[in-house]
Amino acid sequence: MYNLIFKRRSVRFFKDTDISKVDMREILRAGMWAPSAKNRQPWKFIVVKGESKKTALALMEKGIERSEKGEGVLAGAPELFTNARFTLQCMKQAPVLVFIVNPQGRPLTDNWTAAEKIHELSDVQAIGAAAENMALQATSMGIGSLWIGNIFFAYDELHDWLGEGEMVMAMSFGYPNHNPCPLARKSEDDVIEVRL
Ligand SMILES: Cc1cc2nc3c(=O)[nH]c(=O)nc-3n(C[C@H](O)[C@H](O)[C@H](O)COP(=O)(O)O)c2cc1C
Repeated sequence: MYNLIFKRRSVRFFKDTDISKVDMREILRAGMWAPSAKNRQPWKFIVVKGESKKTALALMEKGIERSEKGEGVLAGAPELFTNARFTLQCMKQAPVLVFIVNPQGRPLTDNWTAAEKIHELSDVQAIGAAAENMALQATSMGIGSLWIGNIFFAYDELHDWLGEGEMVMAMSFGYPNHNPCPLARKSEDDVIEVRL
């Protein structure tokens, strides 16, 4: 497992080779076995391929265009547009896109009680754990993955299209067509503090 953690990279260029249904199921099962608060398992994995993937990517393009025109919540972050467009290109190459939605999730609001906030944040953490499980399982099978935060450019479009709860994240999967170098991490002294 330790080796898999260091071997995993964000893959952004993919071969034009599909992932078999059996292999994809194994990756999704790894996600399902992630821990979650009170074992709520606050996830549904929506696997998107073929024509459906084209529809999802067209919606993502629409969301990015909306921001470029100065509309939507990310309109004020033009420094992110180029990166979002690049991510869209990566998603086009990957044969499989998985959206993780929280069917019981609620839209972000400032009016939550502390208990509601903890509930929602715990569910997002659990979905993050599911995503990392999937990324590591994929790595063990020689399959690359990319975690995609840029879907939030098209939150409204994709949320309506998915038609289920809150869209929390998406990941692309496919066989790598490059061998990305590991990106440097902060030093251990900077991020680890031991208190005795
Ligand atoms: C929450 C989250 C969102 C991310 N969103 C994107 C994205 O939209 N596009 C992209 O190319 N990479 C995205 N990444 C990948 C990060 O850029 C990558 O994990 C980081 O640069 C470290 O590189 P590594 O994954 O190869 O170790 C995301 C990663 C996380 C955890």
